[in-house]
Amino acid sequence: MKIIVARSGRDFVLTAADIISAHLSDVTTPVIGLATGDTFTDVYRELVARYRDGRLSFAKTRALLLDEYAGIAAHHPQRFRNVICAELIDRTDLTADALHSPDGNAKDLQQECARYDRLIADAGVGLQLLGIGQNGHIAFNEPGTSFSSGTHVARLTAETRRDNARFFPSPPEVPRYALTQSSGTILMASELAMLARGKSKARAIRQAIGGPVDTSVPASALQLHAKVTVIMDREAATELA
Ligand code: GLP
Repeated sequence: MKIIVARSGRDFVLTAADIISAHLSDVTTPVIGLATGDTFTDVYRELVARYRDGRLSFAKTRALLLDEYAGIAAHHPQRFRNVICAELIDRTDLTADALHSPDGNAKDLQQECARYDRLIADAGVGLQLLGIGQNGHIAFNEPGTSFSSGTHVARLTAETRRDNARFFPSPPEVPRYALTQSSGTILMASELAMLARGKSKARAIRQAIGGPVDTSVPASALQLHAKVTVIMDREAATELA
């Protein structure tokens, strides 16, 4: 596992954007796993800037989302698919057809999870981007979730719903369920890049990197992967030895 502690906020963004840019440029038909969340906003903005400068193109890229809220209105701005449309598709040459995501409004959610697993296996993710929850979750794999559960319907913990309330007009509007890739599915990607910013992530980062591999800290599953880069700022690194 390669651990990078960024010197500044700008260094954090550039380091992450460089890893993504390198992957998109090195591979003929890149398949990238996208994460949503505050951590990625500035990174995606940097990718848009590079696209506008002519330094980066997503024309041949397919993108797969990690997760999606269940039962969220199709046009809700916080539907993860819509977040990525606003952050990348509307601003670059990544097309809506090239963006795949689990449908949180599917009639049969179990079937939808199985469909998404097949799609991921067929696509073969090259570089998977990940954030980390304050409780150590990756995607929406909450503590205690089996690594090998496949894409599944997750019941969000009270802590995760509280954390994500900042994105919604009021806390009760945060969905209670989501469809999420499992940790095991995430580990199938050829390369992983996990990003963490801020003091609120320090404990989760310590447990994920330095603690035992255990489902109580879903992000600890990353220790099982051969090619992982963790990029963090100084605040997120404060509990590392
Ligand atoms: C959400 C997402 C995760 C993300 C995490 C951290 O719950 N499902 O994929 O990593 O939040 O988000 P943020 O970057 O906003 O802290």
